[in-house]
Amino acid sequence: MSTFKAPKGTFDLIPPFSATYLAVRDAISAPLRKSGYGYVETPGFEDVNLFARGVGESTDIVTKEMYTLTTKGGSHLALRPEGTASVLRAALEANMHKAGGLPVKLWYSGSYYRYERPQKGRYRHFSQVGAEAIGAEDPALDAELIILADQAYRSLGLREFRILLNSLGDKECRPVYREALQTFLRGLDLDEETLRRAEINPLRVLDDKRESVQKQLVGAPLLKDYLCEECKAYHEEVRALITAAGVAFEDDPKLVRGLDYYTRTTFEFVHDGLGSQSAVGGGGRYDGLSEMIGGPALPSVGWALGVDRTVLALEAEGIELDIPAATSVFAVPLGDEARKVLFGLVTRLRKEGVATDFSFGAKGLKAHMKSANRSGARFAIVAGERDLAEGVVQLKDMESGEQTAVALDELVETVKARLA
Ligand code: HAM
Repeated sequence: MSTFKAPKGTFDLIPPFSATYLAVRDAISAPLRKSGYGYVETPGFEDVNLFARGVGESTDIVTKEMYTLTTKGGSHLALRPEGTASVLRAALEANMHKAGGLPVKLWYSGSYYRYERPQKGRYRHFSQVGAEAIGAEDPALDAELIILADQAYRSLGLREFRILLNSLGDKECRPVYREALQTFLRGLDLDEETLRRAEINPLRVLDDKRESVQKQLVGAPLLKDYLCEECKAYHEEVRALITAAGVAFEDDPKLVRGLDYYTRTTFEFVHDGLGSQSAVGGGGRYDGLSEMIGGPALPSVGWALGVDRTVLALEAEGIELDIPAATSVFAVPLGDEARKVLFGLVTRLRKEGVATDFSFGAKGLKAHMKSANRSGARFAIVAGERDLAEGVVQLKDMESGEQTAVALDELVETVKARLA
């Protein structure tokens, strides 16, 4: 123990658990990498106004959860609470939307920060893998993203997740609905804060988790009854394409997301084994975001899946990922001369692409073999003075326990052949 601990709401990823995180990031990004999405990495902090304007002045994320700071030079920055605004900012800054065909398809993986009340599945530092397809209004693009996320989760073996789908309309039809909803909400028995929310962001009230509120919301006007013809047709096509792909989803006319930039398609991946923090991922279309941050009109769509919650979902379903041992060969030297010879062998094996580790430090055979076992290596190479005098090392199969003497100059080839 040191004097210090990881800050509240954060935790460290350490082996062997950390290997699961790497595997999950890999599994989520694999379908994207194979579908034309290029990797993008942006800074961990941005101008605070990027998020204030992009994510929305009235959202919890901006009003309560942002880590903000003023630099010595006087810049107002925020640790990124999400990735979409940053990725769009980066694409615009690099003029990617002018460079070639649209959409610009990007994927990312990284740390995000929200000052939330920590609980299981909700942290102040968390990890997302996300995808953004910028600059095209095409229902097939919305469908592609939903299908790829579904494929990612299935490749991990997850089964108990559901996809909730909704359309939030566009700048034509949503204001009309907003009015109707506001009128309805004003007639309810709501506390002051909720009434205030009804004035600023009435759709968010639909998302209120309290039963006393939900009871009153029965009979609230639904956005789906207010969608304009274009939005309706667009949504029907998204639904048809996902259905044709064999991806199951549920229409959720009350699905509202916690960020203000969404238009039309919105969706959430929820997992039933996670309790209150059940959203493992979410996303949707954000046709107005580019203009909101000073760019040209660039209709876009994307999602982000939470890596932490995906790992919790794996645990909830009892899924253990098949993560191969990082080390194939573990070298155990007995004595000083053997140390030099085996260390040379280790370097040669590594150059040949064989994942090899070495037993460091002066210790007895038993302690050495314990290290070999812990490494998960398939083979151990053990050598003492007598072996070296005969020009051999002992190659031990850690699974069967069987041990054979192999000539020093044949070792690399023998190991490679037996691993193949
Ligand atoms: P979001 O729904 O705010 O969307 O976050 C996406 C996912 O990140 C959530 O479903 C959850 O799994 C994870 N997550 C969020 N906050 C926390 C937290 N405090 N602790 C642990 N996990 C968390 C976005 O961030 C949008 N940028 C998604 C998007 C991309 N929309 C369009 N493109």
